[in-house]
Amino acid sequence: MTYDVKTQIRQLIQEIRLHDYNYHVLDSPTIGDSQYDQLLRQLIVLETEFPEHRDSNSPTQRVGAKPESGFEEVTHRVPMLSLGNVFDAEEFQQFVARLQDRLDKVGAPLLTAEPKLDGLALSIRYEYGELVMAATRGDGQTGENVTQNVRTIRSIPLTLKGERFPSVLEVRGEVIMKKLEFTAMNKRLQDLSEKTFVNPRNAAAGSLRQLDPKIVATRPLSFYAYGLGEISEPLGSTHSDVMGALKVLGIPVNPGLVKATSDQIERAYFDLLAKRDQLPYEIDGMVVKVDGLDMQEMLGFVARAPRFATAWKFPAQEASTRLIAIDIQVGRTGAVTPVARLEPVFLGGVTVSNASLHNFDEVVRLDVRPGDQVIVRRAGDVIPQIVRVMTEHRDWRIDPIQLPTECPVCHSPIRRSDREAVIRCSGGLICKAQRLEHLKHFVSRRAMNIDGVGERLLEILIEKEWVKTPADLYRLSAESLEGLDRMGDKSAQNVVQAITSSKDTTFARFLYALGIRDVGEATAGNLAQTFNDIAQLIEAPLPKLMEVEDVGPVVASHIRAFFEVKRNREVLADLVACGVHWPVFEPSIGSSCSDLSGQTWVLTGTLTTMTRDEASDKLRSLGAKVVGSVSAKTTVLVAGPGAGGKLKNAETLGVEIIDEIALKELLGCF
Ligand code: IVH
Repeated sequence: MTYDVKTQIRQLIQEIRLHDYNYHVLDSPTIGDSQYDQLLRQLIVLETEFPEHRDSNSPTQRVGAKPESGFEEVTHRVPMLSLGNVFDAEEFQQFVARLQDRLDKVGAPLLTAEPKLDGLALSIRYEYGELVMAATRGDGQTGENVTQNVRTIRSIPLTLKGERFPSVLEVRGEVIMKKLEFTAMNKRLQDLSEKTFVNPRNAAAGSLRQLDPKIVATRPLSFYAYGLGEISEPLGSTHSDVMGALKVLGIPVNPGLVKATSDQIERAYFDLLAKRDQLPYEIDGMVVKVDGLDMQEMLGFVARAPRFATAWKFPAQEASTRLIAIDIQVGRTGAVTPVARLEPVFLGGVTVSNASLHNFDEVVRLDVRPGDQVIVRRAGDVIPQIVRVMTEHRDWRIDPIQLPTECPVCHSPIRRSDREAVIRCSGGLICKAQRLEHLKHFVSRRAMNIDGVGERLLEILIEKEWVKTPADLYRLSAESLEGLDRMGDKSAQNVVQAITSSKDTTFARFLYALGIRDVGEATAGNLAQTFNDIAQLIEAPLPKLMEVEDVGPVVASHIRAFFEVKRNREVLADLVACGVHWPVFEPSIGSSCSDLSGQTWVLTGTLTTMTRDEASDKLRSLGAKVVGSVSAKTTVLVAGPGAGGKLKNAETLGVEIIDEIALKELLGCF
């Protein structure tokens, strides 16, 4: 019996380790999260019942005790070095020339290039295949013993994989936090009113140096190896072979390693730079190393960096500049947000003069004041952000920013709900700023799709007080528009034509266009499928609203609140009176339209008589769900010319396939 339990525990551990390896090292899990959790639970049950068979490196034993007082110091047997830098192709060529000089007799070396991960360096020591110690870099000679924390990082194996490994193996690599996990973690911390982190690197460093391993276990840290420390026997004769060998031992290695000659490196650099924003983690350059370990040894070291490697850094994503002012913007739903106006600064290839400050809590947190010298960060396409204030340069005579008490545009009082960080103008559509945003949304392509009515024209129409509500748009005449914003008679007619055509819409688009808080396109679609028409929706009580997919208590209360405002109901009636209409689906009176509720449709290829958006709208209004990919759950695939993979999948799965003509027949009632 005991023997059976022991075997069972050992087999479970092996199975879980294999899944850890597939997930973290190979990046291709073969089972789902819940199946994995089930295996882990089985193991916990057995280990709890038979503690005598518990292994200290079992996957269940990742969280240990908190150190009594700070971390112990650890002396690195092989120092942890830093890297020299180059910043452009010319400096890189100089690096190559130095290599060639020194290796004269050996010839041009083969190089490797890999992303320079932006986290913190870690050394992990395995003895006889078991993880025995992990330490931070510290000053390169002495670091901190963070073993208990490192054991909680799921991608780091507690035991090496396979049978053959050096008796001593020190793996060097970078602890990082992936971008999405960083954002999600910060959000969780914010919801708990805890301190958030400025960037993934600080989050990784702050988390790893947390004293309580239980907290570290909740932080989504990852690790990728890029080198070795002390080893009892070689793992290979080149850097790339060593990385391959580490992978076989179950250690995740720096992804994206390529072997290249020095001529190919420049191309690899620009390829990596172009991919930078799409990578799941932050990188700040490319590390180039000589591949051959014998040559690495010949080249040796200067000061505290190896001669055989260099970091070709990316252009900075952060720069310092002066904050000129904090302006206040009012959005569609009245959200009042601060925007930083900056002294223009060249950053990541563009001139930046505005930065986001998110909300006033952020202004208070940063304690940012006009005139301050600030650090601005611009990563990829995201709006630049102020990440830090250099208070050492501050003019202390300038007072902190005061939270506005009234809307800067309409002077209505500002309200704040307990639930959110955003403050809002209470003026509703009286507020011209809200009106503009509201109308911009109403005319937008995915709402009423009124082409030709842009922001500039709306601003003029609002200023002239010709358009106070969306319904006013439908009363505009071509004559009145002529001459506005240098508009000729033809353009004026086109605008009126576009406004008139928009009257023929769908219920889902109409609901989305109303701009009810938190009712996006998907929710509007779900509401349109549940309620036959606007009258039913206006009357719907909260529980009925909450039966709709994606609608929880908060969204339901926003919908209720919207329809309870008399003015909103009046605008709705006005829009309908102006001729805005949509097909009403009434299966009970036996119309020729089919009821597609419960069905899932996919559209692929080109449609000639309607756009895919139009076809989707119509299918949705008949109750169908329209999704992007074919699966066993797909009811019908509509395939037009040029259909490819989706058509093949549908054929394989035996999904019904129809063409545009059949679709038109089905939608014939429109
Ligand atoms: S090799 C002996 N490779 O960059 C050279 N370092 O600026 C050891 N880093 O402390 C470093 N990605 O923490 C190497 N692919 C990579 C790296 C990398 C990030 C970090 C490492 C090092 C720092 C030096």
